[in-house]
Amino acid sequence: MSSIHPLPPQLINQIAAGEVIERPASVVKELVENSLDAGASSLRVDLEQGGVKLIRVTDDGSGLGPEDLPLAVARHATSKIASLADLDAVSSLGFRGEALPSIASVSRFTITSRRPCDGHGWRLTCDGSDSHDPLQPAAHDVGTSVEVRDLFYNVPARRKFLRTEKTELGHIDQLLIRFALACSQLRLRLTHNGRTSLDLPAADAPLAAERLRRLLGDDFLAHALPVDEVAVGLRLHGLVASPDFARSQGDMQFFYVNGRLVRDKVVAHAVRQAYRDVLHHGRHPAFLLFLELPPRQVDVNVHPAKHEVRFRESRQVHDFIYRALHRRLAEGRRCVPAAADAPAGSGGGEMLPAGAEPAASGPVPGRLPLGVAESRGGYGRDFPAGGHGILGAGILPAGFAFQQPSGEPPPRECPVDTPPLGFAIGQLNGIYILAEAPDGLIIVDMHAAHERIGYERLKQAVHGRTLVRQPLLVPVTVHVSRAEADLAETHAELLQQLGLGVDRLGETALVVRELPALLGAADPEQLLRDVLADLATHGQSERVEAAIDALLAGMACHGAVRANRRLTPAEMNALLRDMERTERADQCNHGRPTWTRVSRRELDALFLRGR
Ligand SMILES: Nc1ncnc2c1ncn2[C@@H]1O[C@H](COP(=O)(O)OP(=O)(O)O)[C@@H](O)[C@H]1O
Ligand SMILES: [Mg+2]
Repeated sequence: MSSIHPLPPQLINQIAAGEVIERPASVVKELVENSLDAGASSLRVDLEQGGVKLIRVTDDGSGLGPEDLPLAVARHATSKIASLADLDAVSSLGFRGEALPSIASVSRFTITSRRPCDGHGWRLTCDGSDSHDPLQPAAHDVGTSVEVRDLFYNVPARRKFLRTEKTELGHIDQLLIRFALACSQLRLRLTHNGRTSLDLPAADAPLAAERLRRLLGDDFLAHALPVDEVAVGLRLHGLVASPDFARSQGDMQFFYVNGRLVRDKVVAHAVRQAYRDVLHHGRHPAFLLFLELPPRQVDVNVHPAKHEVRFRESRQVHDFIYRALHRRLAEGRRCVPAAADAPAGSGGGEMLPAGAEPAASGPVPGRLPLGVAESRGGYGRDFPAGGHGILGAGILPAGFAFQQPSGEPPPRECPVDTPPLGFAIGQLNGIYILAEAPDGLIIVDMHAAHERIGYERLKQAVHGRTLVRQPLLVPVTVHVSRAEADLAETHAELLQQLGLGVDRLGETALVVRELPALLGAADPEQLLRDVLADLATHGQSERVEAAIDALLAGMACHGAVRANRRLTPAEMNALLRDMERTERADQCNHGRPTWTRVSRRELDALFLRGR
């Protein structure tokens, strides 16, 4: 007798379940995806014991008829694709026809469904074995309920990996937030052990402020920069948090490709690159972004749980995302007073966050208006409706809108000739510059600001190959370790590129002959030591451009004004004007804010004025 034999169907399903159904949240994911594919506009998820005892997902979607129910739980049976060509252009969330049979093979499973054309619903029950009981008529509204009880009751190995009720619930919570962010028109309710833990009404506008506030918090909204870029058949839209909102974890990163939440290396790299220069070391950016592209341009059949995708033109997608975000972050946020920034006639309705005036009180780091910035994804303007939407269920948000903070003072006339950062009044504690702006007080950290300006200039000069070197009148000899001298020699070309003319004098001595003219006042010895130390840390491991930028950042820091340098009013104003012209001037090279605004309103509040 042959030792090879076909596996029984239930075992095949259980093996398939091994790939897709890891924990209760994976069941919820598959069921919610099915509901969305069925065009549901309202969804209810009931859980008991973190989903281990019970998961019930009820939708008001298109439903299934009695002849379809047995097929729904049959392996490799799907209504979503019929051919390879369909798979190539698939726009539904599901397509593998594996989820329901997999789930049914590792739980006590019931599906009840009713189509609009039927007088009542039908119920099908499976108990983990191959067969299912005969269909039963059942009372049910139009739509579908799937009930999954005792998950993994017949797979002890999997059961062992389940965590506490709280942990499993946490995973499901996170998952539902991810769906809710992408499907603004979806009403979503979650109960756990009989108590409602989430009740989100459908939003009337995509990415409506109230919904975002509940899902992501006020703080994210206050720091959100709108993005909307279209190029080469790709569209990227959504929100990126300004770098000063960066988090210690990557827990607020939502990226959807054609409405599907994915983790993708190409995307992650492009985003990281875009934030590279403005993020405090070790911090993680926050964003909610939607990439839309023709389904044929992206392969979603990469991972059984469909967490990953593959782009046909991954280089193009990478560069598109990188450029869009890089530019957006370079623009930063305008500092024009919140109310004054609102376009006429937009009052009353929902609008984008102008001027970063958070609902919470207290000054926040401001944002700079840039001479180079043109209106993009404009303030007070909804994104153009677009996106192809999945199954017409409004899964892809077409735009978004924000609530204007209430109680905002009426727009103040802004004299046209007052620059956004105002005019310097004086210096405080040798560290800060105070300036009078049309709407209150601007406070600038002069070292941080100067550092950023220096850095941006150096970058431009070095990358644009227009760096001017200045020979030192008296070359400076610097005694270093042999390793440092070797390092300088190995990287002579790089140092040259950075504008540092350095020669080796002996085993342990270097001589600095030239500095970048931009750093005229810098101490050559200290600068060289800093650059060598940076070079030792960054080495050649990073990409050359990133490595150069890191070195330039160090040089800029070195060249920036130190605390306690008295600046003349003319120097202070020059710095303010430079900031207005410089990209990424909202943050210093380490990602800290360079300036903040205390509005008239906040000042008035401090003195209880107008109460
Ligand atoms: N909530 C639902 N509403 C309507 N039809 C559903 C629902 N859930 C599943 N189905 C039907 O059952 C089929 C099988 O579902 P599933 O096993 O998840 O595979 P897939 O989603 O990959 O097609 C689907 O193709 C769909 O026709
Ligand atoms: Mg499915």
